Amino acid sequence: MVTLTIDGRTVEVPEGTTVLRAAEKAGIKIPTLCDHPHLQPFGGCRVCVVEVEGLRTLQPSCTLPVSQNMVVHTNTPKVLAARKFVLTLIFSDRNHFCPYCQVSGGDCELQNTALEMGMTHWDYQPAWKPYPVDASHPNLVIDHNRCILCRRCVRACG
Ligand code: FES
Repeated sequence: MVTLTIDGRTVEVPEGTTVLRAAEKAGIKIPTLCDHPHLQPFGGCRVCVVEVEGLRTLQPSCTLPVSQNMVVHTNTPKVLAARKFVLTLIFSDRNHFCPYCQVSGGDCELQNTALEMGMTHWDYQPAWKPYPVDASHPNLVIDHNRCILCRRCVRACG
């Protein structure tokens, strides 16, 4: 077992556990977009970054394995700024202005994450290009305009 501290809480988890899962065990919520509990960690979106004492750069908690006596901070100003920046890039890159989404039924992980981060707008001029909607598969439709490149669908199909 490995013991670490997350936001001042001591948590003990099996070796190989990620910081994200350790935080969940400690009752600490870290926002995620590309993570899914049934898929291999991917580390693509960077919304789940955390600060680890002794490490120079922010780390994606979904791919970072715990280590003995690690000290993690999930909510520092640096972490929050980085998450907002990541979300800003996502919102600026493709058209996620979709308040009437039929797919999410108003329960969109991206929109919810932005709201939880207190985002009401993003500072960059959108650079949305129209992408084709791929409905060529009998069971799947992918709207690339809404895609955040989390690769969940690709990993799930794999
Ligand atoms: S949830 Fe960790 S990088 Fe996407």
